[in-house]
Amino acid sequence: MKPVVMSTTKGFMIRIRNFVMADIRRVMEIDEEAFLEGDANLYIELYKEWPEGFIVAERNEQVIGFEILILTPEEEGRVFALAVDSRFRGRGVGRALLKTGFNLLRKYKIGFVRLEVRVSNWIAQRLYKSMGFTEIGFVPFYYKDGEAAILMRKVL
Ligand SMILES: CC(C)(COP(=O)(O)OP(=O)(O)OC[C@H]1O[C@@H](n2cnc3c(N)ncnc32)[C@H](O)[C@@H]1OP(=O)(O)O)[C@@H](O)C(=O)NCCC(=O)NCCS
Repeated sequence: MKPVVMSTTKGFMIRIRNFVMADIRRVMEIDEEAFLEGDANLYIELYKEWPEGFIVAERNEQVIGFEILILTPEEEGRVFALAVDSRFRGRGVGRALLKTGFNLLRKYKIGFVRLEVRVSNWIAQRLYKSMGFTEIGFVPFYYKDGEAAILMRKVL
């Protein structure tokens, strides 16, 4: 994607662009702080598989959030990771990253997008529901620490 400067629904100015390798340190800082337990090598592998699916949000040339989208074998989109630096949450950045991701998937004529979210993560669940996701399943012990995941899906 071409970098886009946009105002979020909360009137917060950000720039959304594709991930580049130099961003990995910042991305992993945000990932760690958000307890996503992501892995840098895996993220880089996913980036190499589909560079367009890895997007970041910047504010004053600093990465403040990221989203990784992948394509499943069933040709659905999947939000593999999404996180915003805690200092910049609640300003519409997560919503803007998701919307940008949906538009990217639509460009590829993908009809559905799905994701997994921790049962305890009601903030993210609220965001996803407000963006049209519905609960389609439940996976016990999905996360390393034994927590279950809620599966959600949205028609694009
Ligand atoms: C989930 C996350 C990405 C949302 O990013 P964000 O930039 O803060 O989200 P937004 O500002 O776009 O808010 C979108 C919606 O999320 C919900 N939300 C965000 N912050 C909230 C808060 N503190 N309390 C309650 N709801 C909240 C609201 O529904 C909000 O919609 P509204 O502003 O219209 O009420 C961010 O909280 C985060 O990084 N969390 C840790 C990592 C994580 O949970 N990732 C998702 C894993 S599946």
